[in-house]
Amino acid sequence: MAARKVITALFCDLVGSTALGEELDPEALHGVLGRCFEAITATIERHGGTVQKYAGDAVLAVFGIPRVHEDDALRAVRAADEIGRLLPRVADELGLALEFRTGINTGLVHTDEGRTLAMGDAVNVAARLEQAARPGEILLGAETLGLVRNAVDVEALAPLTVKGKAEPVEAFRLLRLDPVAPGVSRADFSLVGREYELRLLRGVWDRTVEESRCQLFTLLGTAGVGKSRLVDELLARVGEAATILRGRCLHYGEGITFWPIAEALTPLGESSQSIRDRLSSGGAATPGELFWEVRRFLEALAERRPVILHVDDLHWAEPMLIDLLNHIVDLSQSAPVLVLCAARPELLEDYAGWGGGKLNATTVMLEPLGNTECEQLLEQLGDELGRQARERVMETSEGNPLFLRELAVLAREGAEVDIPPTIQALLAERLERLPSEERLLLERGAIEGQVFHRSAVAALAQSDSPLDVELPLADLVRKDLIRPHSANVEGDEAFRFRHLLIRDAAYERLPKATRADLHERYAHWLEDTAVDFLEVDEIAGWHLEQAVRHERELRHEVDPRLMRDAAQHLYAAGRRAGDRSDLVAARNFLDRALVLAPGGDQLRGRIAVALAEQLIEAGDLARADELLVAAEHEHAESAPVSLTRLEWLVYSQPGEANQTIESILPRMLEELGRSEDDRELAKAHMLAFWVQWTANRATLAAEQVRLAARHARRAGDIGLWSRALGWYVGTLIWGPQNARAIAGELDAIEQEEPGPYLLAFVELGRGEVARLDGRFDEARALTGRALDGFRGLGTTTMAATCEQSLAWIELSAGVAEAALASLLRADAILAESGERSLRSTTQAMVARSYELLGRADAALAAIELAEELSAPQEAINYAITHDVRARLALGAGDDDAAMAWAKSAVDYALKTDFVDLQGGARLGLAVVLDACDRLDDARTEARAALELFEAKGDRPGAQRAEARLDRIS
Ligand SMILES: Nc1ncnc2c1ncn2[C@@H]1O[C@H](COP(=O)(O)OP(=O)(O)OP(=O)(O)O)[C@@H](O)[C@H]1O
Ligand SMILES: [Mg+2]
Repeated sequence: MAARKVITALFCDLVGSTALGEELDPEALHGVLGRCFEAITATIERHGGTVQKYAGDAVLAVFGIPRVHEDDALRAVRAADEIGRLLPRVADELGLALEFRTGINTGLVHTDEGRTLAMGDAVNVAARLEQAARPGEILLGAETLGLVRNAVDVEALAPLTVKGKAEPVEAFRLLRLDPVAPGVSRADFSLVGREYELRLLRGVWDRTVEESRCQLFTLLGTAGVGKSRLVDELLARVGEAATILRGRCLHYGEGITFWPIAEALTPLGESSQSIRDRLSSGGAATPGELFWEVRRFLEALAERRPVILHVDDLHWAEPMLIDLLNHIVDLSQSAPVLVLCAARPELLEDYAGWGGGKLNATTVMLEPLGNTECEQLLEQLGDELGRQARERVMETSEGNPLFLRELAVLAREGAEVDIPPTIQALLAERLERLPSEERLLLERGAIEGQVFHRSAVAALAQSDSPLDVELPLADLVRKDLIRPHSANVEGDEAFRFRHLLIRDAAYERLPKATRADLHERYAHWLEDTAVDFLEVDEIAGWHLEQAVRHERELRHEVDPRLMRDAAQHLYAAGRRAGDRSDLVAARNFLDRALVLAPGGDQLRGRIAVALAEQLIEAGDLARADELLVAAEHEHAESAPVSLTRLEWLVYSQPGEANQTIESILPRMLEELGRSEDDRELAKAHMLAFWVQWTANRATLAAEQVRLAARHARRAGDIGLWSRALGWYVGTLIWGPQNARAIAGELDAIEQEEPGPYLLAFVELGRGEVARLDGRFDEARALTGRALDGFRGLGTTTMAATCEQSLAWIELSAGVAEAALASLLRADAILAESGERSLRSTTQAMVARSYELLGRADAALAAIELAEELSAPQEAINYAITHDVRARLALGAGDDDAAMAWAKSAVDYALKTDFVDLQGGARLGLAVVLDACDRLDDARTEARAALELFEAKGDRPGAQRAEARLDRIS
């Protein structure tokens, strides 16, 4: 089966063989080379590599084919080092001076299992490194070095420029190699958590000493979960109270059977020399004698002081070592020896009975760390990660401290690698150890995601019945690679990858062509079966999109049917997100759909219009325009296109919009009424609403928007429905209803189970009710919540509206600075989107705030901008700017002008049915009249203002009117 994997390539080349060729007879040369290659091949194979080919006097060997090992890079370097020391001896025997140059590099390749190596960039780079090496030198690539750093000393060379590669290649000369050190060191954190395990371990140790009896303690746990770290901690705490012997099983090598014991006895020096000799020669004694000797030695040692014999990485033990340990544990019944082993769960795959049936044995499975503990670890790392990166690291590592640390380092470097290379190697070996049937299922599961369903993998594995996969899945659960999980599909079962990284590693193995095929088949499986998935379109769309992506990376042409399928699903998903008023998600889906939809297809036009709608709502008018232009180009006369275009006009050119809409809307409504297309009708009424609303006629606007809501509800378009009802709240705020009536209407809306968008509107309305009542803090808090709500939904236009409301609150409360700050924030948003209607009102209010702060020039500038942006029918803007102009004139001593402006402001306010606006304008006129000593008229105006404020239930307004009345009398 084909797979993608990370391998380490080793190139080595006989130096000066051309010169040799001149000296030697061809037959003799052949013999010499043959001897050398024999020695090289034997060395490479001993380290677990395979020779891929001989080319002239060069050898290419690969570590990772047919099987990947977690330490392939280190194996390659060890092999090269050994060859470097071996060849001079071979040459010597032949009476020649021979030298080799070597290049080693690690990277991704595609392989056909069982067949020869497929070439890849990783292999080419190894060849280049070899060519750049001087005789006798071993050069390592950067990826290789990253995996062996702990075991080597190197010297960095100047980066090599390599033909056909844009970036120079980093190269490192190998100086020294530690023959037994692991490739990567695991920097130590101070211990977090693990109190329970430590106590347990401590208890077994105390018993060993008290009862003077041998105990076996086995700590099982997946790679990196913290077995070695935990043992370190115990040993540090036990300290001088024990003789501590420590050995580690090596992954492979010659004479490694008893190596861990020999290593453990080394610190004892002379006294253990003879037994170590016998352990390393192996055959010098029968196993029985050897076992007896080791046991007697330990017992004698324990008579002086209790002994802890720690054997780490027992999953790599040779069978004879297992026998030896069993022998000690079974027979040393009267000596205080604790045999403390740590191993990955694979141990039980090879030695199922380990620890079983012994009364003096304890086995503990080390579980992942909890969230709090992981947080503590991140802190120890001097965590400088952003919140998002931090969350991803926490989520992906799922309590595995090794993964946590490596991921955090990667994230800090801002690298775009999904799996850290050290962990990649670890997981790749784990996957390759699996029987191919189980691995195949894991890879199929990885297509679905971190959680996958049994029937999905069965379908993808093309098995006849879902139950065919039952047993291999159970085995995978037993091996702790996956765990049962609750299923989304009734009657099915689901599983969850133990780690997201295991899923990623399994997925990474799949060749892209296979991935494309599987993603497509998964999408079809989903369409066929998963009735209970709410998000079939989202998920199927994503999978088809992946299929397209992988196809495209392999070939440039992708089947248009596949692309259309993907676009269709994403379009549906986008529409549904729009219905939920989740603008961010809607835009995301529709954007992706648009990229996939084939040109000239009707679908493409529909996607463009739907996306334009979302963009208008979100305030990106420029891009909405582009999309509409394209859609109009394709289908000139379609109703959805023109409705959306008109909506766009309302925001970007309010002046023009009203005329256009008023001229064509009646005909449009008639046509739509005949076709009974509720969705389009709702949109048309929405436009009629805008016409009234921008002319500041709240009552008429409310009528239209309620019609829009009714049709939207009938069409099942929840997004439009909540938008319509939301704007109904807007009309309540400004229109003639008083505070109590508004509160009642808001209660009624809340009965309808509004989504987050409409709820934000309700909060905005409640903020206004609080303001009318003079409860300013509450008003600020409620409006702030509405602002957060809209922001979270991605609608900047509504966020600006909320800022405007905050400014009203502040102006009512008499805090002009705060009002100004809110308005400037709103203005920044609106200016960027090209919106004009809301922005003109914002600028009018900016003018009011500056005037209150005594900054006449700034106020005037804002007035001018407001009037320039404003459409003629937007009376509110002129009611405000003329009122401000009146005050500025008053300040400048021009009473006549002040009077004219103030009257004009009242005229404009009366064109609307915005009660508060009218109250404010009349009060403004009263101020001017008062200043001109026309006291009776001033009193009349102030009284009229008071009545208006009272009718609206606006207490702060009423108080201002009363204060004015007091002053006049
Ligand atoms: N409880 C812990 N508190 C602090 N650091 C920890 C803890 N557990 C593990 N670590 C750190 O996480 C890394 C991995 O742990 P460790 O090497 O002990 O894993 P392991 O289970 O022995 O893995 P392997 O099977 O590969 O040997 C180390 O750097 C270790 O210091
Ligand atoms: Mg370990």
